[in-house]
Order: sequence, then C-alpha cells, then structure tokens
Amino acid sequence: MRHRLGIPVWTSAKCSGFPPFFLTIMSSFQPNNLFNVSGKVVLVTGGSRGIGKMIASGFIANGAKVYISARTAKACEETAKELNALGPGECVAIAADLSKLSEVERLVKEIAEKEKALHVLVNNAGAAWEESIDSFPDHAFTKVMTLNVQRVFNITQKCLPMLRAAAELGGKLGESYKDPARIINIGSVEGLSIQGTGHETYAYSASKAALHHLSRHLAARLGHEGITSNTIACGPFQSKMMAYTLETLGDAFVSSIPSKRIGTPEDIVGTTLFLSGRSGAWVTGATITLDGGQLFGPRL
Ligand SMILES: NC(=O)c1ccc[n+]([C@@H]2O[C@H](COP(=O)([O-])OP(=O)(O)OC[C@H]3O[C@@H](n4cnc5c(N)ncnc54)[C@H](OP(=O)(O)O)[C@@H]3O)[C@@H](O)[C@H]2O)c1
Repeated sequence: MRHRLGIPVWTSAKCSGFPPFFLTIMSSFQPNNLFNVSGKVVLVTGGSRGIGKMIASGFIANGAKVYISARTAKACEETAKELNALGPGECVAIAADLSKLSEVERLVKEIAEKEKALHVLVNNAGAAWEESIDSFPDHAFTKVMTLNVQRVFNITQKCLPMLRAAAELGGKLGESYKDPARIINIGSVEGLSIQGTGHETYAYSASKAALHHLSRHLAARLGHEGITSNTIACGPFQSKMMAYTLETLGDAFVSSIPSKRIGTPEDIVGTTLFLSGRSGAWVTGATITLDGGQLFGPRL
C-alpha cells in the first residue's frame, strides 16, 4: 500500500505479526540490497590507475560491468586483465584521450554500440599542475580546466541518452524514477578550501570548485529525468598524482589529518557504492567530503 506521494504506508498496517510489505521493507535494509550494483553498467574515466582503478575494482567486486578509459592503451588493458581475473563483474578497456572532444565522442559511441543503458558514470579522469604564481603557464591552466571541467560536461552530455535509458529501465513510481542513473564526479578538498599558501595549484583548485558546482547544476537539471549528480570531494589517496606530495611532506602531512591516515580503496569504494545503490537513490546535488577530516585539520 502506498501513499499518493509514492511513499510506502507501512505504519498503518493492522494485522497479526509483520505484514508482508513490512518484511519486504526489512529485507531492503540489508546491505546486499542497499548497496547492490550487480549487473549495472558503469563507465569510470581514468580507471587505469589510482582512485579510478580503486572505484572500478569496487564495482567489479560487486558484479558490475565496468568500462575504464585512459590515454594509455597498455595500462587500460593491463588493468582490465587484472580486474577481470578477480571478477565476478567484467572490465572492458577503451583507451581515449579525453582532453579531445573527438575522443570523448568516440569513447561514448563505442560504449553505445555495445550497451543500451549506462547506470553509473564516474567522471574521475583529472589533471593537476603546480607552479609558482609568477610563472604559471597559460597552457597549463587551459589543460587542467579543459579535462577537469569542460570534458566532464561533454562526457555527461554525450552519455545522456544511455543514462536516460538506464533510468527508464529501472521503472517509475508515480512521477519518480525507482532506480535513477547516477553521475559521480570526483572532486577534491582543493575545491573547498585553500591547502596552504605554498600550494600553488591555481588551475586545479579552481577546476575542482567549478566541477563541484557543475555537479549541482546537473543535479538540478537532470533530477526529473531520473539522473542524480553528486561529487565526492576527495582528500589524499595514494596515486601517481599524489605521489610527490606524499613523498615530500611525508609523515607531517599525514599527521596533520585528524584521522591520521590517507584514504584507502575501501573509503572511496564504500562511498561510490553508497551513491550507486538503492542507498543513494535520493541523494543528488551533494558534495560529499571524503578526507578523514583534512579540510578542518591544521594547514602545513
Ligand atoms: N589522489 C588524490 O589524493 C586525489 C585527491 C583529490 C582528488 N583527486 C582526483 O581524483 C581523480 C583521480 O586522480 P588520481 O589521484 O587517481 O590520479 P592518477 O593516478 O594520476 O590517475 C589519473 C587517471 O586519469 C587518466 N587520465 C589523465 N589524463 C587523461 C586524459 N587526458 N584522458 C583520459 N584519461 C586521462 C590517467 O591515465 P593516462 O595517464 O593513461 O591517461 C589515470 O588513469 C582526479 O580527478 C583527481 O583530481 C585525487
């Protein structure tokens, strides 16, 4: 029995023991239902290494079919081979340089030739550049803003038919989609705060702040079509991008984080599964800070 707004009326049941719909609701609280992504089709940009590979691994470990993309074909293929050996999901590698619009179009076309629907789009590929304010190059600013913001919009735009199809496949309850398609944007604490005045990442911090707001704008526009859009604003995770910072600042950097550690694969996988399963179906326009408290810790 459902309220006219589509909410189950489970408080009004009058029968002995638990009514059947109550039992149904109880089973929907189980982790294997709340965080279930089995059979979902996912695209993780920059999925060959680092945070993208962690995210792809989490989906594959939970039975999803994951397309990963990055510029280096060999790295993509090696990662796909490694993740396919782990299963039970499937990993498909498609190399593409997403700084180029034509490559974005080719990537999405190749996926659309194989899939009717895309349930989860993870916009993870990103670039950073650190240089003194006096010499920060114009081309570096363009490179970072293009990949981290503009191409996220382009990829999302080109994927819309497949995201809309995924929402339709999930069915509707009144005017609302039961299992919306999800856009997950990998942002950064650098888009939320200034990480110390010696940290000269002008284009990167601006790009991530822009990405966070683009994500909110997409949420507002696409919600009624059954597509959510959220940002995970990451703190430090071990990766090629983060290697220099972790090597140079070392223990002092980790000690400055209130939780006294950097992020692990479980941290990012748990958050992406939350956003992708039934658990996150009503979350949209959010910026989830995933940083062990770094945002509020002391600046180095
Ligand atoms: N690691 C952290 O601590 C941290 C913190 C906050 C936010 N983030 C964000 O997390 C995301 C992943 O970063 P990461 O640390 O995992 O970095 P990473 O190890 O450098 O990985 C970046 C991934 O993106 C791909 N990529 C780079 N440029 C690309 C392009 N033009 N076209 C297609 N793919 C491209 C890379 O592969 P190819 O080089 O082969 O193209 C790689 O797969 C980024 O958006 C980053 O801003 C990371």
